[in-house]
Amino acid sequence: MSKIEDLGGLIGDRRASVGVIGLGYVGLPLVLAAHAAGFHVIGFDSDPEKISRLDAGESYIRHIDSDATGALAQSGRFAATTDMQRLGEADIVLICVPTPLTVNREPDMRYVELTSQAIAASLRAGQLVILESTTYPGTTEDLVKPVLEASGLKSGTDFLLAYSPEREDPGNIDYGTTQIPKVVGGDGEPARSAACAFYEAITSAGTVPVTDTSTAEAVKLTENIFRSVNIALVNELKLVYDSMGIDIWEVIEAAKSKPFGYMPFYPGPGLGGHCIPIDPFYLTWKAREFDVATRFIELAGEVNTAMPAHIVARLGEELDKRFARGLNGAKVLLMGMAYKKNVDDIRESPALKLTSLLEARGAVVSFHDPYIGVIQTGREHAELSGRESVPWADVVGGGHDVALIVTDHDAIDYAALVAASPLVIDTRNATRAVVDHREKIVLA
Ligand SMILES: NC(=O)c1ccc[n+]([C@@H]2O[C@H](COP(=O)([O-])OP(=O)(O)OC[C@H]3O[C@@H](n4cnc5c(N)ncnc54)[C@H](O)[C@@H]3O)[C@@H](O)[C@H]2O)c1
Repeated sequence: MSKIEDLGGLIGDRRASVGVIGLGYVGLPLVLAAHAAGFHVIGFDSDPEKISRLDAGESYIRHIDSDATGALAQSGRFAATTDMQRLGEADIVLICVPTPLTVNREPDMRYVELTSQAIAASLRAGQLVILESTTYPGTTEDLVKPVLEASGLKSGTDFLLAYSPEREDPGNIDYGTTQIPKVVGGDGEPARSAACAFYEAITSAGTVPVTDTSTAEAVKLTENIFRSVNIALVNELKLVYDSMGIDIWEVIEAAKSKPFGYMPFYPGPGLGGHCIPIDPFYLTWKAREFDVATRFIELAGEVNTAMPAHIVARLGEELDKRFARGLNGAKVLLMGMAYKKNVDDIRESPALKLTSLLEARGAVVSFHDPYIGVIQTGREHAELSGRESVPWADVVGGGHDVALIVTDHDAIDYAALVAASPLVIDTRNATRAVVDHREKIVLA
């Protein structure tokens, strides 16, 4: 039976085995990182489809190469399973499951709870458990720890417990999982040191130890709230400057020439993805327990949430002004269903909201996205599931009244899009390099 004191040695000579629970956008890169560092890795997921894809050496995430997952499957140092009873085999367990919001926009902790219960069922002395999912301060201490300790084992004595937020930016070619420093908080110093030793073994950017797990949880929320608030600010500035006939994109380009004191954020059609639209509300929810108002964060949420309706209104105005027609019956070609450029993820994508808003006004909406062939059933907008991307040939074949650029994928030929469209509403400045027919383009 191993003890917590053995972990340092097991990590140092790579005899520790690593279990990763939740093999999605966060978990799969961590599997690859731990495997590349020489550890034995077991991937756990409740989705049998992901397990069979990994068994076959296939990747199901666009920016993760099948060569990497193929090498994993061939290595003899990796197994993927839905069987949570095997969790006891891992010396280090990373939790990377979803932390969404409920329909009432409160933290939905059921995945973290279920996973903690599964770990508790086979918890043994000497294990290190690290939560990576984004969450409110206090989760590791108040939610995960009691569930694990219900096994009869004690944190800090029998097993170790830590929190280290994933700061992955899917699709970012400059900074992958292993190039981003790991912020680490432990339930006690031995847990923090063991977690730091593990992350130093699998990443190249080092660790940032902080006082405790709540501080580490707060760091991640702070980073994402910073983004949410700044995006809201530029979205508001866009409306102000637009009304004055000033191009916000040109303003930002010039402002960012200042070598200090300014950091560019860009306006858009609304927030998307699993982080920025959701994480701020983990903090506002928790703050209510402490009777602290979070007006600034809520206001940013309001401004950002209002953007899709603003885009629809702007699109309607342009149809009216240019073609003396309304939205009802207008053929709208929505370009980009993913929530951000060059990724295949539609969670919380503003394109979903825009489709619903446009259709509520009677528009006939189709979409093109090179990375989203079909809209899969998700937690939101179930009514859109099964819809398919129209082929590129149909895009350049014309037939639509207006193209609405929601996501600025690099793979799109924007000059061809503009040539084929009577009107282009560009929410991302994706057409900045297009020279011909600029009169058709409206930056909105
Ligand atoms: N995607 C990002 O860019 C990103 C970046 C930083 C942090 N995060 C955070 O990381 C966490 C995971 O996000 P993600 O984007 O990887 O989610 P994801 O949906 O891509 O992956 C989560 C995986 O967990 C699996 N799962 C769900 N419940 C399970 C259970 N009980 N047991 C085993 N597997 C289970 C799902 O099948 C899925 O494969 C979230 O807290 C998220 O906020 C995400």
